[in-house]
Amino acid sequence: MCGIVGYLGPKKATPILIEGLGKLEYRGYDSSGIAVLENDDIKVEKCRGRLSNLKERVQSSDFASSIGIGHTRWATHGEPSDVNSHPHCNEDESIAVVHNGIIENYIVLREMLMAKGYKFVSETDTEVIPHLVDYYFEGNLEDAVMKATKKMEGSYALGVISEKDPGKIVAVRKDSPLVIGVGENESFIASDIPAVLGQTRDVYLLEDKEFVVMTNDGITIYDENKNKVDKQIFHVTWDIDAAEKGGYEHFMLKEIYEQPKAIKDTLTSRIVKGEKIKIDGIHLTKEQIEGFDKVYIIACGTAYHSGVVGKYVIERLAKIPVEIDYASEFRYRNPLITDKTLMICISQSGETADTLAALRLAKDKGARIIAITNVVGSSISREADDVFYTWAGPEIAVASTKAYITMLIALYIIALYMAEVKNTIRETEINKIKDGLLDLSEGVAEILSDIEKIKTFVDKVYKEKDVYYLGRGLDYAVALEGSLKLKEISYIHSEAYPGGELKHGTIALIEEGITVIALATQEDIFDKMVSNIREVKTRGANVLGIAMEGHPDIEKTVDETVYIPRVMPILAPVYSVVPLQILAYYTAVRKGCDVDKPRNLAKSVTVE
Ligand code: M6R
Repeated sequence: MCGIVGYLGPKKATPILIEGLGKLEYRGYDSSGIAVLENDDIKVEKCRGRLSNLKERVQSSDFASSIGIGHTRWATHGEPSDVNSHPHCNEDESIAVVHNGIIENYIVLREMLMAKGYKFVSETDTEVIPHLVDYYFEGNLEDAVMKATKKMEGSYALGVISEKDPGKIVAVRKDSPLVIGVGENESFIASDIPAVLGQTRDVYLLEDKEFVVMTNDGITIYDENKNKVDKQIFHVTWDIDAAEKGGYEHFMLKEIYEQPKAIKDTLTSRIVKGEKIKIDGIHLTKEQIEGFDKVYIIACGTAYHSGVVGKYVIERLAKIPVEIDYASEFRYRNPLITDKTLMICISQSGETADTLAALRLAKDKGARIIAITNVVGSSISREADDVFYTWAGPEIAVASTKAYITMLIALYIIALYMAEVKNTIRETEINKIKDGLLDLSEGVAEILSDIEKIKTFVDKVYKEKDVYYLGRGLDYAVALEGSLKLKEISYIHSEAYPGGELKHGTIALIEEGITVIALATQEDIFDKMVSNIREVKTRGANVLGIAMEGHPDIEKTVDETVYIPRVMPILAPVYSVVPLQILAYYTAVRKGCDVDKPRNLAKSVTVE
């Protein structure tokens, strides 16, 4: 949700800010803007719409400044418009601020400031910040920002510049991500690492309430009481190419094709043939694992859908009851948690506000927290007790694909690890699943090597207003994800239902010619699923079946079938999701949608 950048050094700031914003557009793209200190005078360019609009504007202004801040917005308070775009300034435009997060008490602050004569021009929560900084300014920018943040409730990552204290960028974070790039005689701020990776591989990962003052003399980091903080530099080892499209038309397609590698990387060193499972970031003893009487899986969106698979797998292998919940629901329902509760928080970005809040709540109540995340050093990874990193590499497309598949792998490994420690299933079965896991990368590559059959379905689906996804058990979990993929990037209404549940209401919506995508990969309930498919066929549905090779019977019931390679049914989600990703992707392309940046969405949801 929103991305911020900043630059201070010997070079022209504008191109560096624009390049950084380009890497953060996945966080929001309703509007963008920059502010630079041009001869100690603040100059702002900002406008509604994509970054390309801003690029045109800054070309004509041609700022020479070497200090500046920038922002790309996902609107929360106030519609996307020029005036609501960041940076926001105080009245005389001597202070400029970029902000990612939400100031929850902005109405109170706004009224307080208005009573003192401050005038507001936008509808945003952010606009209170430059006015507050102005109110507290007594000659030193960091002191004013520190005082202002003490009054602010909510979440923020801020970049602040002022012509009253020039030659300086002040940055601070609370519950919104912020990294500081360290270059040679230059420094950067950014909401995420890819935004600075073109310039430097050395970054500081800021903790909550740490302040940074950047000047030409270097970077100083303070805690909230202005004590200096000595921080370790984090050296980024992955390549900038990983965050580029590399010849693919869209990041989403590139990321779909990166799945075989992502699976392999996530398994590497954790699952080794003939050896016990090793998970480097998880430090639970046998007694602790045996002591858990309940597991909560908490996540949002696609991560939640991986958790639905995780519930099934952990219960089946490790024999512990698992409850799964949306983080946004969990945090407000007073959940029952004890010191025997294990919580697994799943989040690609590791920054999702609801998931982070749920983690904190459970931790306060004594739960042990395992984070499954793709981003090293993210807030969720830092606050959890144990971390399982999925090695998917940077995921840029808003629609998650390779992160989802590696979350599944993480959940299989954790479930199997617990089963191995607790001795809940036979060693032969454990070994069989390990072998199955090691074959998955190749199986996904095989599916991706021939996608023509699934593409033929695009011709029909792209014209639809509604599409239904059906499945039972693990197939239902995958149906949820397939449905979300289609709706978020192609804007076609879709719903996922457990096959047996349809007859309790939703079947009323099935009529002649409607498209139903039916997953039937689970052998033990194959016949039950076939009965459910017949129910919709009888009512005129056109059905695409997803089944495992060796089950030609399915063809008697459905209109078209896409086969996935044979695999143990428990591992089938890793295969069956792939045709659904492909179908969603090509449907969105066919409709001319902006696949990587679907409307109203952002990659990282750091607001509640
Ligand atoms: O970064 P997270 O995994 O915590 O993100 C959770 C959801 O916002 C995310 O999965 C979202 O649903 C994706 N757009 C789905 O493709």
